Amino acid sequence: MHDRTKTLFIETVGCQMNVLDSELVVGSLRREGYELVHDATAADVILFNTCSVRAHAEEKIYSALGRLRRHKRENPEVVLGVLGCMAQKDQEEVRRRAPHVDMVVGTGQLARVPELVEEVQRTREPQYALSLGRADGGKHEVTASFESFDPPRDASMRPTPFQAYVRIQIGCDKFCTYCVVPATRGPEQSRHPDHIVAECRQLAGEGCKEVTLIGQTVNSYKFDHGDGRRSRLSDLISRIHDIPGIERIKFVTNFPKDMTDDLLDAVRELPKAVKYLHVPVQSGCDDVLKRMKRLYTVGSYRDMLHRSREKVPGVAISSDFIVGFCGESEKSFHKTMDLVQESKFKNSFIFKYSPRPGTKADDLHADDIPEEVKKRRNNDLLAVQNLNSLEDHKRRIGSTVEVLIEGPSKVGERQPAGVRQLTGRTMTDHIVVFDGHDRLIGQTLKVHIREASPFTLYGVAETGEVGGGGLIPRSAVMDPSSQRRGLPLLS
Ligand code: SAH
Ligand code: SF4
Ligand code: F3S
Repeated sequence: MHDRTKTLFIETVGCQMNVLDSELVVGSLRREGYELVHDATAADVILFNTCSVRAHAEEKIYSALGRLRRHKRENPEVVLGVLGCMAQKDQEEVRRRAPHVDMVVGTGQLARVPELVEEVQRTREPQYALSLGRADGGKHEVTASFESFDPPRDASMRPTPFQAYVRIQIGCDKFCTYCVVPATRGPEQSRHPDHIVAECRQLAGEGCKEVTLIGQTVNSYKFDHGDGRRSRLSDLISRIHDIPGIERIKFVTNFPKDMTDDLLDAVRELPKAVKYLHVPVQSGCDDVLKRMKRLYTVGSYRDMLHRSREKVPGVAISSDFIVGFCGESEKSFHKTMDLVQESKFKNSFIFKYSPRPGTKADDLHADDIPEEVKKRRNNDLLAVQNLNSLEDHKRRIGSTVEVLIEGPSKVGERQPAGVRQLTGRTMTDHIVVFDGHDRLIGQTLKVHIREASPFTLYGVAETGEVGGGGLIPRSAVMDPSSQRRGLPLLS
């Protein structure tokens, strides 16, 4: 006699690293016989993969946990687990604020999830699996306690089988003063290039066409082979480039100071390398950058932009900004406005500073910019960026671009299958929507651009297969949040 199917629910917040971790955790539980369901209250195991980068991301999880308190009381056999960055950083607080949680598993311990679920079911005792804090041991010991979680891939766990994130690095050693990531993800460690190449080869064999290499500072990737040889990101991209079936190689997120010429040369020379760089600057004011400990100046960032554009003609560049960081005066903020105005980023992700307990900035500086000022600065910066994005998009009207079609757009999702509105990305990571048949999903297609909004290019497919064709109505403007899909390491 078999048991009924065991069911699993997972909610994921945070960056691509978390999206990948969730894919892998779900894959490993499926191998144990679990089936994914989309309603938490219908699941035997309920997991939250958490983010701590801003307070809001944490509060969202505590509210969701609070809503499950009664369900857990009435169904004590359900296993409720908190995974990821908040688990690693705040296990005590999770225990205090959500005592009904059965399992707290940090980012460096995810391989143990199936075993811990079983342990909770067997013993009914809460289970904790965490790596060491950055100051809780010698460097080697702390590093060893964060294990890269790289089990076999399961294509059915990804939104599309033809696109995949591939982890090339875990952790971060930059210690920007506002940021929790070095604490939640541990020391920077680069994966062995042979393992990465083998994973990409396996993915390609299963029909994956686009790999996005991910790391918190992906361009700092370096692997010392121990015999004097060192592999850099550029070397890795060239090796992946040789894999038949792989058509596009992306990488996020770049650290400005580590944008070396060998990498830019590889991006220019290798046709499969996506001509897009996400290189967050955070602020346009040197005093602020210094307090953030970003290790570069606005001048050197400008030089990096100039060098990137010179070396890789037509490259699209995007950035992240934090507004309202401690001590950011109106004058400092205007320098950021000027930098956005002149830098012509493809798009920018703008965040209001969120003080994070345990970080240097929170210890040393007061969070002295009022919320309304942060909000206004956020809106002002976004307005400048949106004008630039619109200008960039309008310049593309009349051109023909190669689009890897990802699936129905937000509008298309509400249309019946067949010919409907589809969305995809160009080789410069621009979002394009157009009408086409579902069977085109996963293909690369030439699309002629006819219209533009700040977030989206609208076009017509150059193929006989489209059916219907024609221009997409203006009402079909996509939700701006769609700009986030497949984008950089952020929440
Ligand atoms: N490793 C990436 C970023 C990881 S976090 C990098 O260094 O670029 C993603 C983004 O969140 C950051 O680029 C930053 O803009 C924002 N961020 C990080 N900590 C923050 C905080 N305390 N408050 C507000 N935004 C923050
Ligand atoms: Fe590392 Fe990026 Fe955080 Fe800086 S902002 S500490 S580089 S993850
Ligand atoms: Fe962790 Fe990514 Fe958030 S590394 S803190 S989930 S942005």
